[in-house]
Amino acid sequence: MGQIRAVSSKTHSYLAKQWDELAAERHRQIASGEDLSFTHVVVPSVRKLLAGANNRVVLDIGCGTGDFTKELADAAQQVVAIDPSHESIAVARRVCREAVNVRFIESSLEELGPQFRCETATAAVAVMSLMTAPDLDALANRLAQLLAGGSQFIAVLTHPCFWPRYSGYEREPWFQYDAEIFVEAPFAISRCRTDIQTTHIHRPLRRYLEALSKVGFALQAALEPLPAADIQSMYPNPWEFPRFIALRWQKLG
Ligand SMILES: C[S@@+](CC[C@H](N)C(=O)[O-])C[C@H]1O[C@@H](n2cnc3c(N)ncnc32)[C@H](O)[C@@H]1O
Repeated sequence: MGQIRAVSSKTHSYLAKQWDELAAERHRQIASGEDLSFTHVVVPSVRKLLAGANNRVVLDIGCGTGDFTKELADAAQQVVAIDPSHESIAVARRVCREAVNVRFIESSLEELGPQFRCETATAAVAVMSLMTAPDLDALANRLAQLLAGGSQFIAVLTHPCFWPRYSGYEREPWFQYDAEIFVEAPFAISRCRTDIQTTHIHRPLRRYLEALSKVGFALQAALEPLPAADIQSMYPNPWEFPRFIALRWQKLG
């Protein structure tokens, strides 16, 4: 994938500017169906894990350009869609313009002030956003405050065990599976490369499990989806391992 490098830790506003730059192109990739994984792997996994959850008030953490938020709005009574990227939220408002049950908030989840009250949230999703959040523990803490006991939290992320290999940085001298590493690279999907830099944070899988467990979430289900043969045939390269992992937790108490 080229020009992948480890960088120092970054602030929310630095990262949000990167997502601002990508927003229009990102929506185009998803809406055109060019992002095969979003359509055929990520969204079906969220649907599967969300089935049966209480959809009265759903938090969409890192809603990005709102392409999944729109689907969520059809399934939930109310959606609160949160993202610190101004441009992504602007695109998302357009994408969801007909959904009257979506409230957008331009902020990171953890920077939502104490005046934001959502004790009634009954479920939350984080679609491809946990590995872009710079402070996982702060995010998990805030999530625990916002979700009522019994609520479900579903996250899909790049699979930390395999993404470094897939992206081609597993053998870089700076890579260590067990470390938390900010990785900057031009944003790419299997059928389209861009020159726009975005950052994800590599963390060992254990970090996600520990961060959520520490604040009172019990892991209920995990999926390591692999596309069926007809879908795989649309990709330039075969899938040798799961590229994504989808997890569902329940908030205890
Ligand atoms: C890869 S994009 C995914 C967007 C969308 N969910 C999708 O699947 O198309 C990751 C998004 O997470 C947002 N994000 C990162 N950290 C966040 C945080 N702490 N709270 C809320 N959103 C965050 C970013 O601004 C970015 O828009």
